[in-house]
Amino acid sequence: MRVLVTGAAGFIGSTTTALLVAQGHDVTGLDNLVSGRAQNAPVGAAFVVGDCGDVELVRSLGHFDACVHFAARIEPGESMKFPEVFFSNNVASSFRLLEALVTTGVERFVFSSSCAVYGDQVAMPIDEQRTTSPHSPYGQSKRMVEEGLEWLVKQGRLKAASLRYFNAAGATLAHPERHNPEIHLIPIAFDAAMGKRDCLEVFGDDYPTPDGTCVRDYVHVSDLADAHVLAIEALESTDGLTLNLGTGVGSSNREVIEMVKLVTGRDFEVRYVQRRPGDPAAAVASNDRARSLLSWNPTRSALATIVSDAWAAHQTLKF
Ligand SMILES: NC(=O)c1ccc[n+]([C@@H]2O[C@H](COP(=O)([O-])OP(=O)(O)OC[C@H]3O[C@@H](n4cnc5c(N)ncnc54)[C@H](O)[C@@H]3O)[C@@H](O)[C@H]2O)c1
Repeated sequence: MRVLVTGAAGFIGSTTTALLVAQGHDVTGLDNLVSGRAQNAPVGAAFVVGDCGDVELVRSLGHFDACVHFAARIEPGESMKFPEVFFSNNVASSFRLLEALVTTGVERFVFSSSCAVYGDQVAMPIDEQRTTSPHSPYGQSKRMVEEGLEWLVKQGRLKAASLRYFNAAGATLAHPERHNPEIHLIPIAFDAAMGKRDCLEVFGDDYPTPDGTCVRDYVHVSDLADAHVLAIEALESTDGLTLNLGTGVGSSNREVIEMVKLVTGRDFEVRYVQRRPGDPAAAVASNDRARSLLSWNPTRSALATIVSDAWAAHQTLKF
């Protein structure tokens, strides 16, 4: 199958591109490197540096059977300061990409959505029937693309899957997690363990959770990559899918930090500071639908595996 991967130089995009190549697909990666790493340019695939919202560029790449659309700005806090950037990059560019792809006859589209579409929910786990209520322009941008896709599917323009990831984590050796700026707990904790930060700041220890810190559902990036391949396959016989990708198991910030200390064998200072606006107390997925409709089985997402794999990859990074 000929597959376009946008955001192929990013964390999840590069891991998924490697899997698609390994499975024998003819892959083209597209990334404007706004936050991706040039080192992530795929091996065994074509790679184009450019914007996914550049209609002429995307059309010039020819017909694709499927597109996996990872490209986005991803930091909710930044989206509160610069909502216009997020709506322009994440929403307008997505629809320009879709316009280019539909006119060149794409059949299947897999979209990186997020648990941020749910906002702050009280009852866990969260299933896909839950009313969406994004609390940031980032989350809203994801929901807006989902809604547009629902119309494209309804009108028979293409088949689409919106995959709502919870917290992507872990790594393969070839593709360590490194965002710019880094906002995710595990790589930041590694930097503290390596002495690259004075201490690790944790936002809030007075949440209504068992140990007072936020609870998140961490899912290994290799399990996420599997789900994308399965979603492309499922779209052969289904027109539209909206699925959570998480494990159903929550880990608190304290539990993650203890695991990082155990795996790295290093101690570091942890400072608990004020809550950060917009952070929900907990976000844990019900993944029943992905298990049943994709036969997806996240086998690498135990916290110990996630942290061990991420640590092995993190040590290969050149800072
Ligand atoms: N990391 C997570 O925990 C998580 C959770 C939920 C959803 N997501 C979604 O998954 C996707 C991938 O996330 P990631 O963690 O790999 O982030 P990332 O920042 O590593 O990757 C995003 C990539 O998209 C590229 N990009 C951004 N805008 C672009 C544009 N207009 N044209 C071309 N390339 C562009 C960036 O250069 C980067 O390489 C994003 O859509 C994100 O919103 C991530």
